[in-house]
Amino acid sequence: MSQVNNYDAVPYESFPFAQSHPARMSGMAKLFGVPAPSLAKARVLELGCSFGGNLLPMAMQYPDAQFVGADLSQVQIDYANKIKGELNIRNITFRQANILDLAKESEQYDYIITHGVYSWIPTEVQSAMLELYGKQLSANGVGYISYNVYPGWKMREVVREMMLFHVGHLIDHTTKLAQARAILQYAGKLHANNQAAFGRLMAEEANLLMRCSDSYIYHEHLEPNNRPCYFHEFVAASAKHGLSYLGESSLSDMLPDRHGADLANTARQISDGNIIACEQYVDLLTNRAFRQTLLVRADRAPSVQRALSATSFRDLHISAQLKATAVEPPLQTTKTSQPTAHAVYADVHGRQINANQAHAKVMIDTMVAASPYTVPFAQIVDAVAAFAKTVGLQLDAAQYVSSELAVLLGQGVATLYGEAMARPAIDSAKIAPYAHWHAGRGNVVTNALHGLVQLTPEQALAVKSDTQPNAAQLAELMNLGLLV
Ligand SMILES: C[S@@+](CC[C@H](N)C(=O)[O-])C[C@H]1O[C@@H](n2cnc3c(N)ncnc32)[C@H](O)[C@@H]1O
Repeated sequence: MSQVNNYDAVPYESFPFAQSHPARMSGMAKLFGVPAPSLAKARVLELGCSFGGNLLPMAMQYPDAQFVGADLSQVQIDYANKIKGELNIRNITFRQANILDLAKESEQYDYIITHGVYSWIPTEVQSAMLELYGKQLSANGVGYISYNVYPGWKMREVVREMMLFHVGHLIDHTTKLAQARAILQYAGKLHANNQAAFGRLMAEEANLLMRCSDSYIYHEHLEPNNRPCYFHEFVAASAKHGLSYLGESSLSDMLPDRHGADLANTARQISDGNIIACEQYVDLLTNRAFRQTLLVRADRAPSVQRALSATSFRDLHISAQLKATAVEPPLQTTKTSQPTAHAVYADVHGRQINANQAHAKVMIDTMVAASPYTVPFAQIVDAVAAFAKTVGLQLDAAQYVSSELAVLLGQGVATLYGEAMARPAIDSAKIAPYAHWHAGRGNVVTNALHGLVQLTPEQALAVKSDTQPNAAQLAELMNLGLLV
């Protein structure tokens, strides 16, 4: 098959995808009221795992769980096995295998992950993938599939087809890539000052792609298969294999309110309580291009509760990647009856979050103290309840925290986990072993929360060193989530 040669010739860079971590999947399942398997002993499968950048750190994190990574490319599987050997990981198996054949097996997995594959395979392989999920997902299992969607991909297809037309006759991968970049560059320049809708879209797409890596351009755009679909088509295809839509891997990717009250109210109203229709309207009205969808077995659909309340969050853990920023406190009026505060926080994208009530500040400070690690929902509620009691404030702390949290989650400022990824005690903290290995290969490394962090050269030296960092370095690395 052509995919074998393409991925062997231009291997895909393999990174962790925080959003595909089973603790995130179990968090979303629990939020919607359905149980999810504990990770300690889970069985996890990743299809199209490349050379294991997503699965290897998970295997190190959960030594008693079992991981299987499968990929068509022998070159990538060989490389994955080489890394597995270097790290002496025993609870992971890498297999060179075709999804078409894997679908005929009868293994059971608690979590199945496929990132960046579904849209790039022929339709019969897409359907085999869904068949595999339908058959091999355990009773309480959760599946993750990411894929390109319309309408966002309509314009991208124009750019892809322009590149394909231009390089279609070429055989050599390097020339293909160089010529794909050449036509992109020309299109970007041609439309640089074009204010018409087509010109603006073309220039934006071309300039965006020019900044991407060779492997991204090659595999995202120059592959023979790239089949975006509408969200409702994906859901219908999954249903044929006994699967039901649970949600997206991040709550912020599925609350219509993130696009404003007008669209949220309209989408809810015209979809008449049908979540699939509501999500589809939002995609259509906002030009969505990509989804990271969670699936469960269809027999679990009746138990899914999407109305959020304090109970929805009860067993969950929260990570808020916020930092307090120094601000002058404003003068308060003497008539203020509730304890006020004026605290300002910034997230990793520089977005500002304000806490203007003292109990809101307590809530956020509790999360910031653990950040980027997780803190149990119950601990946040306890902190707010204790504060309310001290100042004589009548407050249902669980209710208050859950409604404020829903806003922070919707904004993507906080993230849900089904299991703790707790801040370790500083005295016994060690550098996460995968991060230690990763830092030996570059300054962008996988942290303990399965995210990628960019290190300064000094930080990279400390992470890859075999000696224990000093106290100041430990504090710095803790804030990057690099300690366990
Ligand atoms: C775009 S890459 C994504 C890799 C990785 N999941 C990521 O997102 O970084 C697609 C991967 O799917 C693999 N693949 C394509 N067709 C496959 C098939 N039929 N069976 C198994 N793997 C396949 C390719 O070899 C390649 O590693």
